[in-house]
Amino acid sequence: SLPHSLFLVIFGASGDLTRRKLMPALVKIHNEGRFPPHFAIVGCARTAYSDETYRSYLKEELAKSPSLDEKEKASLDDFLSTVYYQSMDPADAFTYSRLNERLKALSPQYENDGNYLFYLATPPLLYELIPKYLHDAGILKKPGLKRIIVEKPFGYDLASARKLNKIYATYFKEEDIYRIDHFLGKETVQNIMVTRFGSTIYEPIWNRNYIDYVEITAVENMGIGTRGGYYDGSGALRDMVQNHLMQLLAITAMEPPAKFDKDGFRNEVIKVYQSLHPLTDEYIRENVIRGQYVAGETQAGYREEKNVNPDSRTDTYVAMCLKIDNWRWQGVPFYIRTGKQMPTKVTEIVVHFKPAPMQMFKMKEGFYRGEELILRIQPDEGILQRIAMKAPGSGFYMGTMEMDYSYDRNAQETGDAYVRLLEDSLAGDPTLFTRSDAVEESWTYFDKILDYWKKYPETPLYGYPAGTWGPKEADVLIERSHAEWTNPC
Ligand code: BG6
Repeated sequence: SLPHSLFLVIFGASGDLTRRKLMPALVKIHNEGRFPPHFAIVGCARTAYSDETYRSYLKEELAKSPSLDEKEKASLDDFLSTVYYQSMDPADAFTYSRLNERLKALSPQYENDGNYLFYLATPPLLYELIPKYLHDAGILKKPGLKRIIVEKPFGYDLASARKLNKIYATYFKEEDIYRIDHFLGKETVQNIMVTRFGSTIYEPIWNRNYIDYVEITAVENMGIGTRGGYYDGSGALRDMVQNHLMQLLAITAMEPPAKFDKDGFRNEVIKVYQSLHPLTDEYIRENVIRGQYVAGETQAGYREEKNVNPDSRTDTYVAMCLKIDNWRWQGVPFYIRTGKQMPTKVTEIVVHFKPAPMQMFKMKEGFYRGEELILRIQPDEGILQRIAMKAPGSGFYMGTMEMDYSYDRNAQETGDAYVRLLEDSLAGDPTLFTRSDAVEESWTYFDKILDYWKKYPETPLYGYPAGTWGPKEADVLIERSHAEWTNPC
């Protein structure tokens, strides 16, 4: 439930994430009247704004925001009256006393004696420092709730994730640490749980007896834009697979939680990670494909992007087959892939059911492979079930029919991931945030691949022209299920 009073302190307040995602989400929450009764936002960054100049900067930016409607834009002044700015250098321990003074000065007006929620929208290098500096400046000492939201990437590998977890555990309780993965804030991702556990249609067949294989795809039709500095040291495996794709995998594969709450849900997530088929060098060699985009018809190649090493071996595409060694999923391959500069932007899960045991009817044309359920995360949010039906007309031929539920067509708002997750963190519900053990378990798994690439630098990094579906070599993976990748258009 919402606290009586709260200060949301955003580090990285003049940055891209704050401008594009956090502030528009906060405007929406404000407009719905869902802030705590006494609530203020304190932005912190190095830029020398005053409250007034920060508000005018935000006003100008928010007025252009594509995620806000006219009504929300008309309410900006009211929203901005809750926003303050403290210029400081989050990397400099001495400047935290200024923040402390500022919070104290704002206390009486907001009846807030120490309820703070910190948001780290900063470069990852600062994740290690901020909790300690907050502590050293005495900001964490006051009674009252102290929560912290940390953006991804949480760690760069297993060792760094463990180190971060240790630092955070020194200053905060685990239930007050909100490791954000915005994929879990997406309505359509949460809906997977409802489709699976809210009805009896799918759950009885959601296992190795009826499911042949599963595809999880999250591809984008953009390059890395201005993020070369970050991305070149990261790559697709760290940027997308270790976190977002693993969340999608967990939700698709998990057992029904005993209760849908922070422990019930997250206990099942970790069990999926613990059941992943171990990665040996041989397994990695045969099941993981990496790629990097080269120049396309109009797009530059990855190595020509700004702030990217011209000899970079960073992966912008990863496809892999992974297996889950448990009762439910024995023998069912999960094919996952992600890539930049693909022909389109789409995130979806395709569940392929086994064909009927006996083919009584012939297809009029083509080859019938079995039913498919497509869980479309974005865009065109919805669910599509492909099933067999009689091809109309003479004879007895089989065709395919699509039952399609589209959120958009049914005029449903799918909501914004950041709105949902910010609201949960204001209300103190960490269910949809990553727990420390899940972060470490996921890194334990992917460290094997990172180590393998280090150990065998000659591992192919296949080039694919920007604007195409990635390296042909990835087709070999899914051909083992006598199939092709489902490339949505
Ligand atoms: C981010 C990655 O976490 O997710 C980006 O760092 C990626 O590289 C983005 O573009 C994709 O998110 P969405 O919500 O646009 O699919």
